[in-house]
Amino acid sequence: MEINRVILGFLLVGLCQLAGCRQEKELQLDRLDMVYLSASHLKVEVLASGLEVPWDLEVDGLGNLWIAEQKGKVSQMNLKSGSLKHLLTLPDVWQERTSGLLGMTVHPDFREFPYIYLNYTLKKDRGIISRLIRYAYQNDTLIQPIVLLEIEGGTSHNGSRLDFGPDNKLYWATGDVHDFSNAQNPRSLNGKILRLNEDGSIPKDNPDPESYVWAMGFRNMQGLVFSSHGMLYTSEHGDAIEDEVNLIRKGGNYGWPGIEGQEDLDEERDFARIHNTVEPLRSWTPVIAPAGLTYYGNKAIPEWTNSLLLTTLKGKSLRILSLNAKGDDVISEEILFENRYGRLRDIVTGSEGEIYLSTSNLDWNPQPGFPLDGDDKILKISRSDETSMSPLSPVKAQQGSIVTGSELYLSYCASCHKEDGSGIPEVFPSLKDSRLVTGDPPALVGLVLKGTEPSGSGQQMPGFAFLDNSQVAEILNYIRGEWTENTQRIDPDFIEQNR
Ligand code: HEC
Repeated sequence: MEINRVILGFLLVGLCQLAGCRQEKELQLDRLDMVYLSASHLKVEVLASGLEVPWDLEVDGLGNLWIAEQKGKVSQMNLKSGSLKHLLTLPDVWQERTSGLLGMTVHPDFREFPYIYLNYTLKKDRGIISRLIRYAYQNDTLIQPIVLLEIEGGTSHNGSRLDFGPDNKLYWATGDVHDFSNAQNPRSLNGKILRLNEDGSIPKDNPDPESYVWAMGFRNMQGLVFSSHGMLYTSEHGDAIEDEVNLIRKGGNYGWPGIEGQEDLDEERDFARIHNTVEPLRSWTPVIAPAGLTYYGNKAIPEWTNSLLLTTLKGKSLRILSLNAKGDDVISEEILFENRYGRLRDIVTGSEGEIYLSTSNLDWNPQPGFPLDGDDKILKISRSDETSMSPLSPVKAQQGSIVTGSELYLSYCASCHKEDGSGIPEVFPSLKDSRLVTGDPPALVGLVLKGTEPSGSGQQMPGFAFLDNSQVAEILNYIRGEWTENTQRIDPDFIEQNR
């Protein structure tokens, strides 16, 4: 058998040489997993490893995958040969926890106009700036940088994503830079979706022909994509609650900070009436930290046709959000890869319906058990006839209620204070040796219900007044029982008295 195959191989190569055709070698990649959907089998392979926080992935329609790493590196991978070329390191990126190189897109007609658009933070005149810049791709280098627009940057909440619409306009999802006055201020370019001509000028048909603003009322978007029907979707981080996926309409107001998630509180309904706001397609409490978003319009994986694929950081998973035919509603949500590859930062669909996604296990917020060998990686997901003894399968998302103190802690507190309560030095305090945890219960209850003002480091603890009394009591008894000698229990009535 083996020998026959070798002989056949030689013969084919020989024929090919005679006929003058170039032999296409199939790229050999390491297979990590198989995924079984209702009818299709998919394989998950490692396309690239040893990267550092690949924040944005794009395909250019000429067979290349573009990779932007947070520290400012831009690389290009030939998807046929697998060869990876490093083209540029931005010289002036300011990169800390969530700042850095945060957005990239390629010109929709890349063959004719070989331009790459990048967004990154930098320090300028003692302030932080978020810059949109265009580079030209020529002879394996990126040259002729042209700054298209600069807006206010911040220590956090810098967004950001870029994409071209079917109208050939450039859309940019900006963050509110942690300033509550920005998102609802039509003159600020933060907390907005901006729409630009490709040369950086303002399109005449914007809602206000003098302004870049296309839609407003956003906190910190981490995903932005156009569907093949020309609809624009974003993913966004909520505060302690209410992460969102939104369908963006021209001139729409998405409510932040007056509204978090659905319009389900009295004051939110009042705000909605006055400002005529748009509700999210879907929101998540507890939060999942949604990130990259791609629209899957391909038929290659029929189970996923007409869905949004969303990577999550805190949720450490891929979410499959099936859309209705009109694309204006999410009809089901499935979860895949939970905890398997760690934090997932971005996702993009290739021309054959294959999918690329990037891990983010070397970023500012490492999770227990990660990074894995070879992180950060780019994974390729594609159809396969292979089989596996232990395939993965998506599970339906449950939006049920959580009751135990440890589950509540994991859902609402661990993203900052960590699973074991140790926090992140100089960012989120440890709860283990905290006098507030051991000490006077009213002070502790007050802090957890009300949260804190931003501190010197720009960090702030959100308030948890939306939790009911027994949930707050469960959490506090859990942290006091777990990390202190304190056995005096706090009961729900005590929380009520301290509200
Ligand atoms: C988004 C991040 C974040 C989340 C989520 C969060 N915290 Fe905090 N927490 C902070 C920050 C930042 C501080 C420090 C605030 C300051 O000192 O101004 C803090 C401080 C604290 C402190 C005081 C520690 C000390 O000794 O100073 C306690 C106790 C605490 N948090 C409990 C909780 C509990 C319980 C939850 C979940 C219900 C929670 N936190 C969720 C960010 C967070």
